[in-house]
Amino acid sequence: MSKRTIVLMPGDGIGNAVLPEAVRVLDAVGFKADYVHADIGWEFWCREGNPLPQRTIDLLEKHKIGLFGAITSKPKSDAAKELAPELRDKGYVYYSPIVAMRQHFDLHICTRPCRTFTGNPLNFIRKGPGGTIEEPEVDVVIFRQNTEGLYGGVEWTNPPDQVYDALMTHPKMKNFAWCPKEELAVSTRIFTKKYTTAIVRAAFEYAKKFGYTSVTICEKPNVIRETSGMMLAICKEVQKEYPGIALWNTNIDAQMMWLTKNPEDYGVIVAGNMFGDIVSDGFAGLVGGLGFACSANVGEKVAVFEPTHGSAPKYAEYEISIVNPIAMILSACMMLDHIGESEKAERIRGAIATVIADGKVRAYDMLKLKGSPDVLKQGAASTTQMTDAVIAAL
Ligand code: NAI
Ligand code: MG
Repeated sequence: MSKRTIVLMPGDGIGNAVLPEAVRVLDAVGFKADYVHADIGWEFWCREGNPLPQRTIDLLEKHKIGLFGAITSKPKSDAAKELAPELRDKGYVYYSPIVAMRQHFDLHICTRPCRTFTGNPLNFIRKGPGGTIEEPEVDVVIFRQNTEGLYGGVEWTNPPDQVYDALMTHPKMKNFAWCPKEELAVSTRIFTKKYTTAIVRAAFEYAKKFGYTSVTICEKPNVIRETSGMMLAICKEVQKEYPGIALWNTNIDAQMMWLTKNPEDYGVIVAGNMFGDIVSDGFAGLVGGLGFACSANVGEKVAVFEPTHGSAPKYAEYEISIVNPIAMILSACMMLDHIGESEKAERIRGAIATVIADGKVRAYDMLKLKGSPDVLKQGAASTTQMTDAVIAAL
């Protein structure tokens, strides 16, 4: 078989620190691939007025598999100020390149596993009966619809007359009739049957393949009756095809409240775009937080793998990087799973587990230190040392 080409998009800030580390681990595990760099992020917004240049889209179109670090996003007004002078007032509007990438390539299935590594000092603990300390083992995989819902981008401030008039035909809009149109902001939450069914089916398929006994829908169908309601109805239909897998229904707000009570009881979770984003951050917090949270964005043709953390700009300036590369390395493992190299992915995850259980090499977040260049003197491993330990354990 010919060698694969992987598109590397380090992006901004610490994306540039963690992505090369993941590639080192891929090399060390014996994964043979060619890598091609692709531009994405703030720099290209400022210089070209486009944070996701066409040449990057072309590379992904061609090679199909991408590893992504992180990007910096800033509010509209800051984005306009930082644009190159010659591009100003020419109608360029900043947009999030990662959201745009998900939509352009229809990367509609987002998977975010949140699993406990034994010995991670950041693991969630709780008090049990008689004051005992319990450390529940979390093994949750969130399926988040990645292209629709509240992040679909269909929104207005001071909506055009046609939109306003259409909204006013809804009886509930009477409650907002007092508000001048210019002072009205509207973000839509659009769910389609096709993509809602696809994410629900992906969740059940995953549960079946990996032996999970439940799929939990985390929405709010009692209040958001049309969109959450549609997802719940589809879940009930799809569940009939999976008799061994129970369907649980929790409201997103209650789920966030109960998250810490019994996280070990949950398996596969399915949700729309925003609630999936929220609940996956919630579960990630139980297993180490941003230094450990990995994700896959998968479409029919293209797939992109990324840690869920951002560009953490203040850490990007450090001479020696201190951020934890594990989230990025775990994202690379998800890439290996996706392309049928699960044996290598398992070996890397095993090496990470060994390093964490040994407890000798720990990034600053695992030592619960406040991030600063000084953490290295306080015994924290650098980004590179953390990776070295994983490679040694391989
Ligand atoms: P962030 O995730 O960049 O950083 C928040 C904090 O989390 C950091 O200050 C650090 O304490 C910790 N952290 C993040 N990654 C870590 C790692 N690998 N190891 C250890 N600690 C880590 O989020 P923030 O500060 O809200 O946003 C910074 C920029 O990143 C913004 O411009 C934001 O728009 C962007 N962003 C991009 C995302 C993406 O590319 N997918 C996701 C989230 C934010
Ligand atoms: Mg998020």
